[in-house]
Amino acid sequence: MMEFDDIFLKTIDSTQEYAKKNIDKFDKSKITCISADSQTKGKGRFNREWLSPENDNLNITFYFQLNSKCLHLVSIAHILAISLIKVLRDKDLDPKIKWPNDVMLDNKKLAGMLSEIQTKNSICDVFLGIGINVNADESFLNKIDQKATSLTVHTKKTWDRQGLLNNLKKVFLENLKLFKEKGFEPFHEKFENLLLYKGEKITFFDGQKEYRGVLHSISSEGKLNLYMPDKKMLSFAAGDIICK
Ligand code: BTN
Repeated sequence: MMEFDDIFLKTIDSTQEYAKKNIDKFDKSKITCISADSQTKGKGRFNREWLSPENDNLNITFYFQLNSKCLHLVSIAHILAISLIKVLRDKDLDPKIKWPNDVMLDNKKLAGMLSEIQTKNSICDVFLGIGINVNADESFLNKIDQKATSLTVHTKKTWDRQGLLNNLKKVFLENLKLFKEKGFEPFHEKFENLLLYKGEKITFFDGQKEYRGVLHSISSEGKLNLYMPDKKMLSFAAGDIICK
């Protein structure tokens, strides 16, 4: 695809860090897609570590620029989650979203996204990472704290990582075009319908404090609306659902 520049790495500390270090070399009119067979220091949200076995998973960072006036930038990772879900639905799977953008199968985590945005004047550098458990086996998944699954464990077959990445790139590109024009709004309804725990009591962590309330809805910008026992509605742009 002409719109992408692809960089394939065998082993790297983290594709996010690689992208940041090499940003000056990238063509800013394209999306640079950096993928690594293995990461020695993969990172997740809130500086957690992100583990992946050698050669079995997809570890990707998309680097591109957006206008800083672009609407709902905080929700850019939702667009990647929705794109992956479309790709998997086309393969007859039924993934869901755990807000903000974990992609889940059987209530277990299949993929996570990490967005890092650097704004300088009117331009944003977007480093959008995604880790997908593709062919990771059961014994590897047991090493991860959170309940996790992989495509191979879920479907009992081996997946073509490159084929999956190509499909993801295609769908993400289409969705990104729409996002640039209209922000999160065209994705809002689809996203909300894919949401786990909607209408249920959850414990939510915003990076500082825990809140217990009902997952009420998603705002048209992609934020999480939490309905509190005192009948107030709180709205969060970042954080994590810890438990039900
Ligand atoms: C999360 O769920 O906390 C986000 C996980 C993001 C992992 C991906 S793997 C490719 C890219 N490089 C990294 O170091 N992290 C992201």
